[in-house]
This record gives sequence, structure tokens and C-alpha cells, in this order.
Amino acid sequence: MAITVGSNMTMGWLRRLLPRSLLGRSVMILVTPLLLLQVVTTSVFYETHWDTVTKRLARGVAGDIATVIAVMPIDPAERDKLFAVARNSMQLSLTYVPGAHLPDLPTTIRETLVDENLNNALAEFVQRKFLTDTRSLETTVEIYVQLPDGVLQVAVPRRRLFSSTTYLVILWMVGSSLALFAVAVLFMRTQVRPVRRLAIAAEAFGKGRDSADFRIEGASEVRQAAAAFNQMRDRIRRQIAQRTEMLAGVSHDLRTPLTRMKLALAMLRDAPEVGDLRADVAEMERMVGGYLAFARGEGREPAVETDLTELLREVVNAAVREGAAVETDAEPNLRVTLRPEAMRRCLANLVGNAQRHALRIWTTVARRDDGVEINIDDDGPGIPPDQREDVFRPFFRLDPSRNPETGGIGLGLTIARDVARSHGGELTLLDSPRGGLRAQLWLPA
Ligand SMILES: Nc1ncnc2c1ncn2[C@@H]1O[C@H](COP(=O)(O)OP(=O)(O)O)[C@@H](O)[C@H]1O
Ligand SMILES: [Mg+2]
Repeated sequence: MAITVGSNMTMGWLRRLLPRSLLGRSVMILVTPLLLLQVVTTSVFYETHWDTVTKRLARGVAGDIATVIAVMPIDPAERDKLFAVARNSMQLSLTYVPGAHLPDLPTTIRETLVDENLNNALAEFVQRKFLTDTRSLETTVEIYVQLPDGVLQVAVPRRRLFSSTTYLVILWMVGSSLALFAVAVLFMRTQVRPVRRLAIAAEAFGKGRDSADFRIEGASEVRQAAAAFNQMRDRIRRQIAQRTEMLAGVSHDLRTPLTRMKLALAMLRDAPEVGDLRADVAEMERMVGGYLAFARGEGREPAVETDLTELLREVVNAAVREGAAVETDAEPNLRVTLRPEAMRRCLANLVGNAQRHALRIWTTVARRDDGVEINIDDDGPGIPPDQREDVFRPFFRLDPSRNPETGGIGLGLTIARDVARSHGGELTLLDSPRGGLRAQLWLPA
């Protein structure tokens, strides 16, 4: 158990470290092996080639110094002549300090790969006590050799010990991998773009916004996904349209027999049963009419960028003109892409319900992290929590009297939620802090 938790934690840590975007990940997949390859080749190169080259260079220098020591004359004038030759043909600056003694220090001042090779070569060829100082590696390396009656000081230029091509190779490697990285990013960007476009199209479709000219492009898998999405979208659209049309057709066709029934009832003598039948037929007519009105409104209204605050204000103003007491607290200029007529109908249904059931109404519109939230509060009787889902059902009303005076036909909330969901949003009923019902409409931004 503890192990699982531990590995989960490391996985989470790793996941946080990994790039999140497809572009970042694919570039990483491309670049990581490249970097590994570079590290491996560089280290192998460093270990073998560089090591061999510096070893040979060090042996060359040590051999030269050993030769100078072997043939060094005692006479100062002769010695200077030899030193001049050494400077010209070996690039070694030699100085002799008679009577000096080397201190008992470790043989080198700064350890690098060059020192180690140089020390080994000096020990092998010179076979005397010596000291090397590579601290000023940028220009020269100083070598001190203890001779029987003095110290020989040798300044070796850097290029005699160092292979500069090594750096060039590493430079080329780093440079070319940087160039490769840039090319990879450029290419991957064009590969990732169609995926991103597909995601945007799918999101827009979910929010009820049209994405008609969605172009199929990119790698074959992406094209496949895009084509599948387009087909799915068309199928869903066709299915919705077909359902709506079918129900509209049924409702429409029901009106003819209903009219005939009404006429037949009108011919009958007045009796209590006939009165009930007349009321039922009238109600059926209203239900069918209400449904037809809804189904017709379902036509393809395009989604446009709309000032939601303004839309709500218009709905509220209409209610106020009818005598409602409405207070509005709205963030100004909340622009959302939506189908304005459908949304107006949704808001009007909610405000109308509050108006019918309560005395006072409060509306708010505000941005909420990932979208926009509209609350319509009232101080009416509210709806018991266990019936808050039922009232969304078509033709469902809490007041069973079916009295047209006290309400509509029970389609208001059904339509309102349908509008909310077709925009990718949601409509929920809650307890209002004002005492009555809160209708909360959330829309994705
Ligand atoms: N603000 C409200 N306060 C109390 N009850 C409500 C409120 N809004 C809706 N209702 C109840 O929910 C039922 C369904 O509402 P709705 O779908 O709009 O149908 P309708 O308004 O046509 O009756 C209403 O009949 C009513 O009983
Ligand atoms: Mg209503």
C-alpha cells in the first residue's frame, strides 16, 4: 500500500514536470534521445579521442624538455644559444635559475586531464623532481624541473598541449542540435495545429455554436478524427432536426381532430360531462399549441456574440412594464456567443415564473471562473427539493388544477433548460436566499 502511494507520488511529480501540451511532449520525445545521443557521443569522444590527443601532445612536450635537459651545457652563453633554438623550433620559453630548489609541493597546482597526462609524461621522460602550474591555462603552462644545481623553468604555450578542434566538435554538436530543435518545433507546430482546431470545433459544437467551415487537414489519424467528428456532428444535427420535425408534425396533425372534437362538442347539449370534455379539449389545444410554438422556435438560429447583460435587462424591463418588482445587479458588458432569441425565451420563462409565483424578483449576472452565471431569485413559495427535477418535465405543473389562470402549460422550464443545455450550459433550481426559488443559469464563456 505504502509503495503504491509512493509510486503515485513520484508519478505525480513526474507528470507535473512533463510538458502538458502535445507540442511540448512531441518535441520532448524528439529531443530527449537526441540529447542522450549527444551526451554519449561527447563522453565517448572525450574519453578516447581527446584523451589520446592530449596524451600524445604531453609526451611531445615532455620529450622536448627531456632532450633540452640531456644536452644542456654548463656554460651560460652556450645555454642561452640552446634556449634560443628551443624557443624558435619547439616554442618553449626556457629560463634557468642556478642554485634554486623546488619546494616540496604536490607535483601539480590544478588537476585537469591535461595535468594528469602531462605529469605522467614528465615522470616518464624527465625522471626528475618537477612541478607543473596550469593555472594560467589560457595562455601558457609553467613547468619547473629540479636539476642538480638549479631549477629549469619552462613556459609551454597552450596550443602545444591542447587540441582546439575538440571544442569545435562540441560546438558544432551543440549548434546543430539547437538547429534541429528549432526545426522540430516548427514542424511539430504545424502537426499539432489541426488537433487543436478539432478540439476547438468540438468545443464550439458542444456550446451550440456553429463551426461550419471546419477544414480537414494534418496527419492521417488527425484527418480521420476530424472526419469522424464532422460525421458525428452532422448525424446529431440530423437526428435532432428529425425528432423536432416529427414531434412538430404530430402536434400539428393533432390539431385537426381536436378542432373536429371541439366542433362536435359545441353541437352537443350542455351537460356537466360535456363541460369537462370541453375543458379537456381546450387544454389539449393549448398544450399542442405550446409545443408547436417551441418546436418552431427551434429553427436554426445562428449563434452571435451578444451582450448578455443587455439581453437580461430587456427581459426584465418587459416584466417591469407588466408591473413586476425586479431588482437587477449585473456586471456590465458580459459578451457571450449565443442564440439571442432562444436565450431571450429562456430568461423570459424564468422571470415570468418568478413573476407569477412571487411578489419581488432579484436578478444577477456575473462572470464565474469558467463562464457566466445568471441567478433569478424570488420571494415566493419556492419548489420542494424533491420536485425540482419533475418541474423540468414537459407539461408538468405543481398546481394540479391545470387552471390556465395560475400558469402556463408546463413547458416553460422544459424549454428554458433545453436552451441552456443547447448552449453547453445548465439550468438548476435552488433555494433562494430571498426565501423563494433561485433559478441558476450557467453558460460556458
Ligand atoms: N419561481 C417559481 N416559484 C414557485 N414555483 C415555480 C416557480 N417556477 C416554476 N414553478 C413551478 O414549476 C412548474 C413548472 O413551471 P414551468 O415549466 O414554467 O410551467 P408553467 O409556468 O407553464 O406552469 C410551475 O407550474 C410551478 O408550479
Ligand atoms: Mg412557466
